Amino acid sequence: MPTLLIINAHIITATDDYTADIFVEGDKIKLIGAGLAMPADRVIDARGSYVIPGGIDCHTHMDLNVGAATSSDDFETGTIAAAHGGTTTIIDFPTQARGKKMRAALDEWMQKAQGKAAIDYAFHMIISDLPDDWLPDMDALVREGITSFKLFTAYPDRLMLDDATIFKAMTRAGENGGFICMHAENGSIIDYLVQKMIAAGKTTPNYHPLSRPHEVEEEAVHRVIALAEMARVPVYIVHVSSHRAMEQIRAARERGLPVYGETCPQYLFLAYEDYADGAWEGARYVCSPPIRERANQTHLWYALAADDLQVVSTDHCPFCMKEGYRGLPKQKELGKENFAKIPNGVPGVENRLHLLYQGGVVERGWSMQRFAQLTSTAPAKLFGLYPRKGTIAVGSDADIVVWDPKRKFTIRAAEHFMRVDYNPYEAMTIDGSPAYVIARGRVIFEGDKFVGKAGAGEFLRRGRYSLV
Ligand code: URP
Ligand code: ZN
Ligand code: ZN
Repeated sequence: MPTLLIINAHIITATDDYTADIFVEGDKIKLIGAGLAMPADRVIDARGSYVIPGGIDCHTHMDLNVGAATSSDDFETGTIAAAHGGTTTIIDFPTQARGKKMRAALDEWMQKAQGKAAIDYAFHMIISDLPDDWLPDMDALVREGITSFKLFTAYPDRLMLDDATIFKAMTRAGENGGFICMHAENGSIIDYLVQKMIAAGKTTPNYHPLSRPHEVEEEAVHRVIALAEMARVPVYIVHVSSHRAMEQIRAARERGLPVYGETCPQYLFLAYEDYADGAWEGARYVCSPPIRERANQTHLWYALAADDLQVVSTDHCPFCMKEGYRGLPKQKELGKENFAKIPNGVPGVENRLHLLYQGGVVERGWSMQRFAQLTSTAPAKLFGLYPRKGTIAVGSDADIVVWDPKRKFTIRAAEHFMRVDYNPYEAMTIDGSPAYVIARGRVIFEGDKFVGKAGAGEFLRRGRYSLV
């Protein structure tokens, strides 16, 4: 079995901060101790760097068809990009088509990922159709390691479920040990507002956020928390964008409910003011829930520091601004005449750790432990991957990032690994970046050079959710 020794490692986990050597044998961390004198195939001297658990991005959409367009990263380009930024596991979303079984979506996503993913991957199942006699399919998925389900209160044409169906799915998850993720925006109100705006000739990208005000997110979050409480199931609100929605989560947690929330870099760093003028370039920011006004960001940063939100994921769902980039068809341009036709989503999987390190650790003085908790440990625990993933410990997978605080990095679309022709964080400079990224014992990035293998990533059967 190949061996790797990391010496002088300043090890950071969600709870630890100490210096030691790490001996890796095959996929696993075998030993951690001071002055390990083990012969190894490769030795990395990590002096001066933090050694942190590989990032877990629990919300990505690789190769996702959203109707007229397909997200521009597939499992190969998207996972290589993820690894470049220090993410060694993703959780993606097989999406059930109405009238078809969830199993068909799972088979399709296995096909998309197998032989392509460069890092490990797991799945949440998106449910769009749930007649009573399909309920046992949820139990089967939980047994096979798909232990969470995403439900939608938005997108009436493809994904939205009525409250009774949401309640039914939640109740079943409560019985079979599954965990519920919610996309919470009031889809019926949004569709009404969109139609009114288009009819009034308000077609430019800046109307996208105006058709999805804070209240539609706040209302849906409030409602799904109430449904989850009735169903006695833990619930995780994905991509929280509005401080008013976040406050619903905080209030529920104060009442002792098992309610969790994630936010994403786009809601922490991007602002409505940057595309309020109606210019076409604003299409690059079109995602749902939408990017809010700048003042909203502060509330989300406080919520992450105070544990009112527990995870930062990306909701990585890239679409190109211009037709033809690396041979890709028209994507964002599909909505040139009508903002409602702009494919929703932004890229981010490559820069999540960069951005949170800069915004959290460098600029707000967060501990490295909090950084590890938000980017790796909390998603590992919530989604049943801990302690195999999400920490640096004997017996855990050797998913390790050697994070060099002296290695400055500037985000540039021209150099990024994501297959998309823009980066929303263009020209931002980060005061640190990964010097090495190690996935299950294999060095897959050395600085900016990919030395891994597409297809080396494995499907992860996840266990049950645990509290964070
Ligand atoms: O705009 C977004 N978020 N696109 C991805 C699909 C989803 O709703 O998460
Ligand atoms: Zn969503
Ligand atoms: Zn999403």
